[in-house]
Amino acid sequence: MTIDFQQDILSPVATDFAAMDQFINEGISSKVALVMSVSKHVVEAGGKRMRPIMCLLAAQACGQTDLSQTQKLAAVIEMLHTATLVHDDVVDESNLRRGRPTANATWNNQTAVLVGDFLIARSFDLLVDLNDMQLLKEFSTGTCEIAEGEVLQLQAQHQPETTEEIYLDIIYGKTSRLFQLATEGAAMLAGKPEYRHALKQYAGHFGNAFQIIDDILDYTSDKETLGKNIGDDLMEGKPTLPLITALKNTQGTAHEMIYKSIATGGLDDLEQVIQVVQDSGALDYCRKRAHEETQAAIDALNILPDTPARQALFNLAHLALNRIQ
Ligand code: IPE
Ligand code: IPE
Ligand code: MG
Ligand code: MG
Repeated sequence: MTIDFQQDILSPVATDFAAMDQFINEGISSKVALVMSVSKHVVEAGGKRMRPIMCLLAAQACGQTDLSQTQKLAAVIEMLHTATLVHDDVVDESNLRRGRPTANATWNNQTAVLVGDFLIARSFDLLVDLNDMQLLKEFSTGTCEIAEGEVLQLQAQHQPETTEEIYLDIIYGKTSRLFQLATEGAAMLAGKPEYRHALKQYAGHFGNAFQIIDDILDYTSDKETLGKNIGDDLMEGKPTLPLITALKNTQGTAHEMIYKSIATGGLDDLEQVIQVVQDSGALDYCRKRAHEETQAAIDALNILPDTPARQALFNLAHLALNRIQ
């Protein structure tokens, strides 16, 4: 079955999704013009908005009918996400994001770091308005774990000995944790703690699949489709799952070439690395792992009542698995 985004995912929460925009726009407003231009530059470029959609759907899947508060939560999530991207592009020295030059490339690193900080602070500023101390605590703890994930990743840079287990720790922190906040937060705000665990499991596995696919696309896509440069991970010597697996599956010169690519970074060997990643079965293994994570995500939803919102969460997981951008 091919999934239609509007019809099969967005439709249960379409009105709330549109209304959420207003909170994001308010959120990025600032009396300092530069803060606002930089935030706008990134936000107006769009993005898939997967996390806020998931947040709204999770609330509805819990039985919440009035999503006016959840709209704010969804905006907080998207702003936190945007902040992590602005920071990530500084760390990764990336210059293309959402089809536009990144904030660091358009202005400079200092500006991008500070505006990223602003976006995190403003997210919490909005979150406080929801008046839920438990939710605030969950988000503070979660945000620390996201930062820890990014630092773990930095430590793994240029380390060819990085294992799949370490990789999973990294992506859990940097990516899956925010998806978890989106769904678990929705359940908390809906006053349905009995669904927290299931939704957290769903989002955690979803996030793992999402990042594995992202790491595949960094070797297989192109910048027009992706809106980001490919080869960024290799450039930075990041031991992502495609390379970890390629190392495991090869010997001799191919193995040495991948090992050296991680250790030194750079794009000199990009073509050969892509070839080895393909021929060694590494991409097949990554796709298999992404499938398994998606299945685990979907299985977690079984305890929720059968509703259009739950169905849309299933569909979202399938769409994310087959995404090309
Ligand atoms: C990019 O996230 C960062 C990762 C976790 C891979 P998205 O792919 O959701 O980015 P946008 O928001 O659609 O640009
Ligand atoms: C995801 O990692 C970044 C965050 C979760 C902040 P990547 O470095 O792979 O993300 P992209 O590819 O730059 O979007
Ligand atoms: Mg990056
Ligand atoms: Mg990436």
